[in-house]
Amino acid sequence: MQKKQLKLGLSLVSNGTHPSGWRLPQAAADCALDFKFWKNIALAAERASIHFIFFADGAAVRSAAADNDSLQYVGRIEQFEPTTLIAALSAVTGHIGYIATASTTYNEPYTIARKFASLDHLSGGRTGWNIVTSWSEAEAKNYNRESHLAHDLRYRRAQEFVEVVTGLWDSWEDDAFLRDKASGRYIDTNKMHVLHHKGEHFHVRGPLNIERPVQGWPVIAQAGSSGPGQEIGARFADLVYTAQNDKQAARAFYAEIRQKAVAFGRAPSALNVMPGILPIIGHSRQEAKDKYDALQQLVHPQLGLTALATKFGDMSAYPLDGPIPHDFPQSNGIRSATDILDRARARGLTIRQLYQSMIGGAGHLEIHGTAEDVADQIADWFQDEACDGFNIMAPYFPAGLTDFLDQVVPILQRRGLFRTAYEGSTLRENLHVTRPAHPAASGSEAA
Ligand SMILES: Cc1cc2nc3c(=O)[nH]c(=O)nc-3n(C[C@H](O)[C@H](O)[C@H](O)COP(=O)(O)O)c2cc1C
Repeated sequence: MQKKQLKLGLSLVSNGTHPSGWRLPQAAADCALDFKFWKNIALAAERASIHFIFFADGAAVRSAAADNDSLQYVGRIEQFEPTTLIAALSAVTGHIGYIATASTTYNEPYTIARKFASLDHLSGGRTGWNIVTSWSEAEAKNYNRESHLAHDLRYRRAQEFVEVVTGLWDSWEDDAFLRDKASGRYIDTNKMHVLHHKGEHFHVRGPLNIERPVQGWPVIAQAGSSGPGQEIGARFADLVYTAQNDKQAARAFYAEIRQKAVAFGRAPSALNVMPGILPIIGHSRQEAKDKYDALQQLVHPQLGLTALATKFGDMSAYPLDGPIPHDFPQSNGIRSATDILDRARARGLTIRQLYQSMIGGAGHLEIHGTAEDVADQIADWFQDEACDGFNIMAPYFPAGLTDFLDQVVPILQRRGLFRTAYEGSTLRENLHVTRPAHPAASGSEAA
């Protein structure tokens, strides 16, 4: 019997995931809007049989920098809007999938259903939509609002949004477009399903003005790990992107979300759980550690303090190389902030060491070591049922990514843990997730 194999995506952003990666001497600081660069990355990923490239997104300059002086150190401002980028990339590649993030808070379902249906036809079925509810106040201000929607309201809207989008993708049965020259009938309206949706947030009549997507529904990914986030993931997602940096916690998350999928009547294997990992690779452990240290040294203090301000509060009045204060003005950021700070104080970290320790992977698994070390850790989590695979984050470009593709992927392939060629032609086929049958065809459509 063939060994179970892991799935690998690349989660790529702007000029790299590490906020100081672009400052390394070997890094391409100006690659974010260089299409030739993205094309070469996609072709290299395709040669390595990577399942997909994943693009996070937000429709704003999303920094919490206090002022323009701090903002000037934020190095990942510019990026392509992901559906635009994947339209171009799918035209110059033939196998790899692409997943674009689009917010359910700052979009309309008809627009999203139409765009992703178009991308799925354009790419021959290699497209996925990453559902997010967005986290940034800055986006609200670009979309007619003074403040971000409340968490529970965002998720109620998201739930209905996804119901409408998937309903619109089923506007037409797979064989509704006849294009019969002899009779003159272009479509079979018996196979048209007008949605007539009227809900709390949306009124959408339908149908969609495009044939059913190649994959039935483009692959659905979901990122956001709170209770309501997990509900949407468990109900709809083929793929869950999550930030985990502790194997036991990752195993618990994996078991829990699969159980929730089963409660929605789905097979546990229908859901691929793929945490992010930020690998920093050297030919020796020392070389990897040196690269990691170089990245940490390059975090400008104003960038570091902005990161701390977002999460915990303003520590700018205290010496960077002094202890973490107790009486700084706190933000209303994350709930677990106190625990993180207590643990950091117990380790004797200074303010500088605190921001250096959390800025790179932003809660995702970070590893610096040889290619063998990275392969070992990936294999360990996969074989110990902590995940189905990983989203590889590149600390900087291009070597921060090509080191992984050229050095780690062959090791995983030699161990039989990763495939050496694409098995199918669509992203669903390559991820081994089923193509949703049209409700009319499966006999489950409500009258
Ligand atoms: C791994 C991961 C990736 C995410 N990527 C994005 C993103 O690209 N754009 C975005 O607006 N929000 C992103 N989010 C945030 C979620 O959309 C959500 O708004 C936020 O996490 C709060 O939801 P939660 O409480 O369910 O985690 C991401 C969240 C996680 C965990």
